[in-house]
Amino acid sequence: MSFHTERPDRRVTMRDLHDATLRGEKWPMITAYDAMTARIFDDAGIPALLVGDSAAMVVYGHDSTLPVTVEELLPLVRAVVRGAPHAFVIADLPFGSYQASPAQALETSARFIKEGGAHAVKLEGGIAMAPQVEMLAQAGIPVIGHLGLTPQSVNLLGGYRVQGRGEAGELLMRDAKELQSAGASAIVLEAVPSELAARVTEILSIPTIGIGAGSATDAQVIVWQDLVGLSSGPAPKFVKRYADVREVMLDAVARWGSDVREGAYPSAEHSYS
Ligand code: KIV
Repeated sequence: MSFHTERPDRRVTMRDLHDATLRGEKWPMITAYDAMTARIFDDAGIPALLVGDSAAMVVYGHDSTLPVTVEELLPLVRAVVRGAPHAFVIADLPFGSYQASPAQALETSARFIKEGGAHAVKLEGGIAMAPQVEMLAQAGIPVIGHLGLTPQSVNLLGGYRVQGRGEAGELLMRDAKELQSAGASAIVLEAVPSELAARVTEILSIPTIGIGAGSATDAQVIVWQDLVGLSSGPAPKFVKRYADVREVMLDAVARWGSDVREGAYPSAEHSYS
């Protein structure tokens, strides 16, 4: 299935995403957290949706991804799967739900697959997570790795900053190779120099999915609120705003509010006789 020329009439698979990469077709992935927006992204032909642990921040209002739980993410995964009939849906494993052991990773992932209906899971970390990746892949679960800026390690990294500069780039290359050997189906590269992302993409046969990693990766992922300008405050350098939805909503809600205050809404047109 070519995502460039065809609208899928069935659910996209990991195999479709791999095949697109083999053909040299770049593909988009976007976060989703509810059924209505998932449907819009599906209608827009986005082949892969990520129910990111970024939900901690954009849905639940925390200031990092650390607090979100499996119980909080599961209903969002279910909603996205229900809302998007074609897209491949990936569930992010929350902090603390997979690092302890491969068995813990399998137990959590099985919940996202069985109870949430997800088609794959994503976890953060390099070589230390290889046993987890191996266990999940052997259980038949597509696993997406996440290297570079791994927000669940924000306290260790000392902030949300570019990773993989200098010698750290070599370690990241090693981590990427280890995750691929362990059975990872793809790897997210977040906030790394473009040149490093290009080298990683070159040495791997599985797709690389970039966010703040330049243009050489096989795919791109973005948090949808950043893309459409719903988030307030300054955006990271890699965010290109394609709309100003915050402004549109602010204006609509403010006008409705003043219509209500002035008795101009509802008019006869919007009332039952
Ligand atoms: O949680 C998330 O949204 C992510 C993406 C930024 C890759 O991990």
